[in-house]
Amino acid sequence: MTEPRLPSRKLHIKTYGCQMNVYDSARMADLLTPLGYAATDTPDDADLVILNTCHVREKAAEKVYSDIGRLRPARDAKRETGGRMLLAVAGCVAQAEGAEIRARAPEVDIILGPQTYHRLPEMVAKAARQGGVVLDTDFPAEAKFDFLPETNAAQGVSAFLSIQEGCDKFCTFCVVPYTRGAEYSRTPAAIVAEARRLVELGAREITLLGQNVNAYRHGEYGLGRLIRDVAGISGLARIRYTTSHPRDVDDALIDAHRDVDKLMPFLHLPVQSGSDRILDAMNRRHTADDYRRIVGRLRAARPDLALSSDFITGFPGESDADFEATMTLVRDIGFAQAYSFKYSARPGTPAASLKNQVPEAVKSARLDALQALLTSQQRDFNRASVGREMDVLFEKPGRHPGQLIGRSPYLQAVHADAGADLVGKVVPVRIAALGANSLAGEVAR
Ligand code: SAH
Ligand code: SF4
Ligand code: F3S
Repeated sequence: MTEPRLPSRKLHIKTYGCQMNVYDSARMADLLTPLGYAATDTPDDADLVILNTCHVREKAAEKVYSDIGRLRPARDAKRETGGRMLLAVAGCVAQAEGAEIRARAPEVDIILGPQTYHRLPEMVAKAARQGGVVLDTDFPAEAKFDFLPETNAAQGVSAFLSIQEGCDKFCTFCVVPYTRGAEYSRTPAAIVAEARRLVELGAREITLLGQNVNAYRHGEYGLGRLIRDVAGISGLARIRYTTSHPRDVDDALIDAHRDVDKLMPFLHLPVQSGSDRILDAMNRRHTADDYRRIVGRLRAARPDLALSSDFITGFPGESDADFEATMTLVRDIGFAQAYSFKYSARPGTPAASLKNQVPEAVKSARLDALQALLTSQQRDFNRASVGREMDVLFEKPGRHPGQLIGRSPYLQAVHADAGADLVGKVVPVRIAALGANSLAGEVAR
């Protein structure tokens, strides 16, 4: 029997923001495959363009509107040849600003939030049929994961798997609880099945994802147990998880760092500030010393654990002394890498209406000082790798012919001369030199 022939259509997805969005984009592509949509790298000849957006900082949110404008010539060209380019805005900007998108960008055909993309095929069919905007930004009672098809597209050697969504923490600066909704944990069975499927499709490393991934929980069964179960999958070499919250680091998770070899010794654990006064105003519900203690316990369990974090400079009311406390915390911990941002007032969040906003110039000066410190720590960390032998999981060809690029256990990018047969393999590599954005190594054996 021959397969029914599907119309061939082109889909272009642009992803902004966090890894959860990267995962969601892959799942949207999965959903649209049965409708005949195949991915294309450029929007120019696409029949459907999805902008999967991020609302976390103002700059990220504003980029969407300029990108919509930039698509106009391609849409017009398509129309002139009798075709049509549907334009969908998905993700957190869609969730937060559905009405504003309608007003500012009437050419958008579909607006859908992160919790309703399982309905995308219906929405696309409706938009194609009727014209006018199709909007779906509910927080539906059904869980979208129950409606998503089995993953059918390889994500590559390193794959993302969302296990948890949403956030109940309500840090006063953050939009995520409003755009992603309440915390929800998928079942262990569904996660392990999806992980197996990803491994069948070629994944050797899986990063378990959640806005608060270590809030993952079904009664007594938390992230620590889940990591052990996922580690049982043969063919899977490495497990990572992101993003965690200091408050949700429990004993079982620390034990997993001690016991599970496949769990990589690198942890992204955002702290945001080193000042207790600011942490309190942020509603983080942990102190700087709590963070030091948690890191101490994790390092006792896994001495070579490398840490990453997120920081915000210029949160309302942040004084020079508060900022100095952040610098002190950074010096105390020593980070392998980190992300840092200027505070961005987000509409609807409690911190946005605080009176004592910090001037832009002060936010910038603090950010520069913090980034200089973090960059020097990162350089020190990378420099200490030179001369060492490290296991590298090769992911794909590097920039030069005959070269592969992969990651060390500590998430450092490493390139080395190696044959394509080593893609997907964990290989001992001797680190020879420090490059601008990666380490240069030689396959050791
Ligand atoms: N769930 C994660 C990360 C959420 S957003 C956590 O709890 O840490 C990713 C990062 O963006 C945050 O860690 C924070 O550092 C930054 N961020 C969030 N809202 C911000 C804002 N209003 N201004 C500047 N940075 C922000
Ligand atoms: Fe945002 Fe805080 Fe939730 Fe992280 S824990 S997503 S920073 S509200
Ligand atoms: Fe951005 Fe939404 Fe992720 S706001 S950081 S895309 S959860």
